[in-house]
Amino acid sequence: MSHRPIRVALLGCGTVGTEVIRLLTQQADDLAARVGAPIELTGVAVRRPNKHPDVPAHLLTTDAAALVASDVDVVVEVIGGLDPVRGLLLDALTAGKSVVTANKALLAESAADLFAAADASGADLFFEAAVAGAIPLLRPLRESLAGDRITKVMGIVNGTTNFILSAMDETGAGYAETLDEASRLGYAEADPTADVEGYDAASKAAILASLSFHTRVTATDVYREGITSVTPTDIAAARGLNRTIKLLAICERVTGEDGAESVAVRVHPAMIPRSHPLATVGGAFNAVFVEADAAGQLMFYGQGAGGAPTASAVLGDLVAVARNLVGGGHGPRESAYAALPVRTIDQASTRYHVSLDVADRAGVLSTVASVFAEHDVSIAAVRQEGRRRDASLVIVTHSAPEAALRSTVDKIAGLPVVHDVVSVMRVEGEES
Ligand code: NDP
Ligand code: HSE
Repeated sequence: MSHRPIRVALLGCGTVGTEVIRLLTQQADDLAARVGAPIELTGVAVRRPNKHPDVPAHLLTTDAAALVASDVDVVVEVIGGLDPVRGLLLDALTAGKSVVTANKALLAESAADLFAAADASGADLFFEAAVAGAIPLLRPLRESLAGDRITKVMGIVNGTTNFILSAMDETGAGYAETLDEASRLGYAEADPTADVEGYDAASKAAILASLSFHTRVTATDVYREGITSVTPTDIAAARGLNRTIKLLAICERVTGEDGAESVAVRVHPAMIPRSHPLATVGGAFNAVFVEADAAGQLMFYGQGAGGAPTASAVLGDLVAVARNLVGGGHGPRESAYAALPVRTIDQASTRYHVSLDVADRAGVLSTVASVFAEHDVSIAAVRQEGRRRDASLVIVTHSAPEAALRSTVDKIAGLPVVHDVVSVMRVEGEES
């Protein structure tokens, strides 16, 4: 092995960074053999050095900017968030230092700037760990499927919310206690609001859509709803219909009647049939379906969060970057040539499950049904259960524009015969 060592700066040593150091140390010889040069960790930037007794003291620094500016070839970033990371990574790329990051929030906001800096200097930018933890997903989208035409990507991309929804469904566990457990296990973000309000999944959806449709999609382009409003009643309603509730990220290539293409990207909880493969994805696992013209349907499944799974993806990227440095190759550049317009949620079509408490008397069903008809929303199934003075009415619609469904529900909520709109939930994974 004649190549000089590949010098690596690590920014962050928390849940993921700790595992990155462990793998780098334990697998040093194998990594060197795979790369063709040793990988040398030259420094680790943290906030509180005294919290890291296991890291050799001479490696620790609180000055991340100085570490980035030092004599390193690659910067591995596992701090998270936008600031100060954005500036640090732009500095690294501008100086020709390749970057490996797990930071979906930053990628979903500033990918164009980061790629521009990488292009200008010839550095690599890799971010496999940013979406779906250990699952090799971004490299298949960027490379293996680069010759195909991807039409849809749909999946579970947030481990924390899947952990919570699975527990609520399986054991009836409470929301708060399950979130605490997800944080303890290292799945949740530093601020779990990003997970439970769907921001984390929206960032990942933006990254997936950008790569799949060769179009710049940022987190603000993504329609987002989290799981905080999913109630045990919703879960029970789903169960009663042999369905379960998952937080889904859905990225679609839409062809309009005039043949013009656009992109629709949304994150929201949805009911799916228990027979659907995504329904069996439990705990912090992620699963993503990809549909492409020639490849057909593909499914990617594995651990979507946690220190070691995420570090696996980081190390895979580090090996790729290091091999390029040794062999003179290059990772893929940004591909945003298609520049498709991004549709709003109102233009999307979905199926809805609407559960109502209504008065139990003659004509109520037809009154409610007439509101759906008025808004041109076709009903696929109705189930009514009478109680003493009122009744539970569940309506599942065919696919209809979001805006029409929302107006329908608004009007129904104001009907005197409707006592309560118990649950309104999109339905996915069934014929429309
Ligand atoms: P943690 O909060 O566990 O770790 C963050 C690390 O960054 C800590 O070591 C902290 O230092 C350090 N840090 C924070 N601010 C600074 C700063 N200004 N300068 C230097 N160091 C700083 O985060 P995770 O390891 O969980 O996540 C890291 C990244 O990986 C995020 O982008 C996250 O979204 C992503 N990710 C996480 C996954 C997971 O399952 N946890 C999965 C996939 C991606 P100190 O320890 O001293 O406080
Ligand atoms: N907080 C994220 C999750 C980590 O729960 O999926 C993995 O990106």
